[in-house]
Amino acid sequence: MTDGRLLAVSDLHVGVADNGPVLDQLKPTGPDDWLIVAGDVAERVDAVEAALRVLADRFAKVIWTPGNHELWTTAQDPVAVDAPERYRLLVERCRALGVATPEDPFPVWQGPDGPYAVAPVFTLYDYSFRVPGVHTKAESLARARDNGVICTDEFRIDLGPYAGVEDWCRERVAATEKALSAHDPELPLVLVGHWPLDRRPTDVLHYPDFAQWCGTELTADWHRRFNVAAVVYGHLHIPRTTWYEGVRFEEVSLGYPREWRRRGHPRGLLRQIFPYPGPPERPVPAP
Ligand SMILES: [Fe+2]
Ligand SMILES: [Fe+2]
Repeated sequence: MTDGRLLAVSDLHVGVADNGPVLDQLKPTGPDDWLIVAGDVAERVDAVEAALRVLADRFAKVIWTPGNHELWTTAQDPVAVDAPERYRLLVERCRALGVATPEDPFPVWQGPDGPYAVAPVFTLYDYSFRVPGVHTKAESLARARDNGVICTDEFRIDLGPYAGVEDWCRERVAATEKALSAHDPELPLVLVGHWPLDRRPTDVLHYPDFAQWCGTELTADWHRRFNVAAVVYGHLHIPRTTWYEGVRFEEVSLGYPREWRRRGHPRGLLRQIFPYPGPPERPVPAP
């Protein structure tokens, strides 16, 4: 057992001017701290790798799961491969850095509150977080378009062999469910995904039509079905803590400069997941 902390952040978007320097401020409070990085590090493969290398050098352990931005194929990236191939490539680069990915055994954090198995999950979205009265993906996309809402993923994610992101999502959900079902039910889990595993965090979105790009109903019961101590996610750029059926959900995003300049970093740049600081949430003290 160590006296380290299990810390988390997401949506670093280090390629965005003014977010890059924030990376330099992400420091452990001691030699045993672990860091969860819940997706949207950057778009370019090399940029994701470089940022994770910096963090892996500082923290005792880094756990990563991809966000939608890691899956984008852009003209700026010399690595011009489709999203499934990008994911495989990123997993390889992470492994070379000693960073845990959704393809690896769950690392076990042994802290004062622990132990907890930290499970990075990669489950995508399938347009099932629809607004009331909308029943199909086609209807949902058409409604969003009419309202002037569309996620850039629609243009930037090259799905390669998959006909739709929902096919890849179903495959990811099935594989992840299998891994979670095989996990020792006595050892509590911290589930880490980029997209929220439950749709309720999307209830506060400014544009409700955007929720369809934010997750899948297929994971809605995971925090009840498995022995889950906390769920960590990002993507919404709405950092906060909510509780569902007694399980703590932590949205840990940094977000874009226009967002963090407005709201600041009221809970610190890194969210402390365990030991749980308790309500009211306290920022991680500066090192
Ligand atoms: Fe993001
Ligand atoms: Fe995202």
